[in-house]
Amino acid sequence: MRPTLLSALTTALVLAGDVQGCQTDDDCSLNGFCSTYTNTCKCDPGWAGDDCGKLDLLPVTRYTGYNYTNVTLPDYYSDQGGNSSWGGQIIQDREDKGLFHLVISQFARGCGLSGWRPFSKVIRAESRTGPAGPYHYTQDILGTFRHNPTTIWSPADEKYLLYTIGLETETPGTCRSYKWPNNVSVASAPDIRGPWSTPQRLVSGTNPTPWPLWSPDNPMSEMVLGVEDGLIYTADGFAGPSYNLVNKMPWNTSDYSDHWTEDPFLWRDKRGNWHILCHWMIDIAERGEKFPRVGGHMFSRSLTGPWTFKLREVYNTTVHFTDGGRTDYYRRERPKLFFSDDGNMTPLYLVNGVQEFDTRASYTLIQPIGAKSKVYEKALGF
Ligand SMILES: *[C@@H]1O[C@H](CO)[C@@H](O)[C@H](O)[C@H]1NC(C)=O
Ligand SMILES: *[C@@H]1O[C@H](CO)[C@@H](O)[C@H](O)[C@H]1NC(C)=O
Ligand SMILES: *[C@@H]1O[C@H](CO)[C@@H](O)[C@H](O)[C@H]1NC(C)=O
Ligand SMILES: *[C@@H]1O[C@H](CO)[C@@H](O)[C@H](O)[C@H]1NC(C)=O
Ligand SMILES: *[C@@H]1O[C@H](CO)[C@@H](O)[C@H](O)[C@H]1NC(C)=O
Ligand SMILES: *[C@@H]1O[C@H](CO)[C@@H](O)[C@H](O)[C@H]1NC(C)=O
Repeated sequence: MRPTLLSALTTALVLAGDVQGCQTDDDCSLNGFCSTYTNTCKCDPGWAGDDCGKLDLLPVTRYTGYNYTNVTLPDYYSDQGGNSSWGGQIIQDREDKGLFHLVISQFARGCGLSGWRPFSKVIRAESRTGPAGPYHYTQDILGTFRHNPTTIWSPADEKYLLYTIGLETETPGTCRSYKWPNNVSVASAPDIRGPWSTPQRLVSGTNPTPWPLWSPDNPMSEMVLGVEDGLIYTADGFAGPSYNLVNKMPWNTSDYSDHWTEDPFLWRDKRGNWHILCHWMIDIAERGEKFPRVGGHMFSRSLTGPWTFKLREVYNTTVHFTDGGRTDYYRRERPKLFFSDDGNMTPLYLVNGVQEFDTRASYTLIQPIGAKSKVYEKALGF
């Protein structure tokens, strides 16, 4: 059938409708604002795309981050992963501004990612060459099995809080994985170097992501704790006594549904809106399916919702390097952001656990975000 003038006009109007763009800041993913003159999004630094739903990622310098998959020690098993790691969090030293810490999960005994439970432990590494690293192993913080470390400074408590999953256990004689129900615990320390308190069990669940509700105007000790599947708890203080469920996502979070995600990373932006960056599970290479879209973003004006998840990728499995090279990763998970400390909450670096194709090893990749990351490095003298 030949297209009629009417259907051609309708198509043009529908296209114009798409181009017409935003009506509200929600159409800009709450990562910017909607200009009502042009109906286009003005994205905050670090965010890009017509709906400000993409991170403005820059090329990565090879061998930055934490990548020691090529090392071995006498007690490592033959099944080599080197010092494989699986994501971490960048912390600027509170006194020494040119020193950066990375609190990472690293697998013991040279095991790779498939031995994560119970071989994962929590370590600290340091960089004197800037927030992107390379970071160097400095200290064990928690032994096997401890995983999913999320580290945050609590101004109300004047302590670092370290949320993890796990329990103290012996490791088996070969690299292999156990199945357990997981629980989230918290430890605290006055300094990132410790001493850390014994982890205290809080809730069952996995992939903890805390955020203190403290602000200079409202210096409260209330804590927010997100976990897998978009469950959000609040507590009067980091130690509880109880964490109460305040949010469940309205969509289907079950395995293999379109909204299947893990590894949430929760933050409150400069406008007071809430965001979650997550590993959008649809990339996983199971059932013979694999898709490149791996970073997901959810946002809400209130902690208790309504939350929006537009099912558009924030980033995919492709990473470009400053040497002109490109790697398409097998897995790219565990997203965490490092923000500017000027009150604007500009994302400056993205940290991921990554695994290349055809290897058991995994490492921690740090990717700079937007021009502000370069300004930040320059101001520190890097
Ligand atoms: C091992 O990896 C480190 C850090 O990524 C790198 O600096 C070093 O040159 C590598 N060593 C070998 C022998 O490939
Ligand atoms: C990480 O280290 C491995 C082994 O040394 C190397 O093959 C790989 O290219 C490194 N990747 C990056 C991004 O540094
Ligand atoms: C590998 O990790 C071990 C701790 O498990 C540490 O002693 C060693 O220094 C690390 N090696 C490198 C090159 O980071
Ligand atoms: C989680 O808690 C349950 C109940 O106390 C316990 O049986 C289980 O071993 C715990 N698992 C982990 C990994 O901490
Ligand atoms: C949720 O998604 C799964 C996987 O696609 C599907 O099997 C299940 O029927 C869905 N449940 C509901 C209530 O829609
Ligand atoms: C990721 O997205 C970029 C830009 O859209 C594209 O060039 C690249 O091919 C994508 N990666 C994969 C693995 O599809």
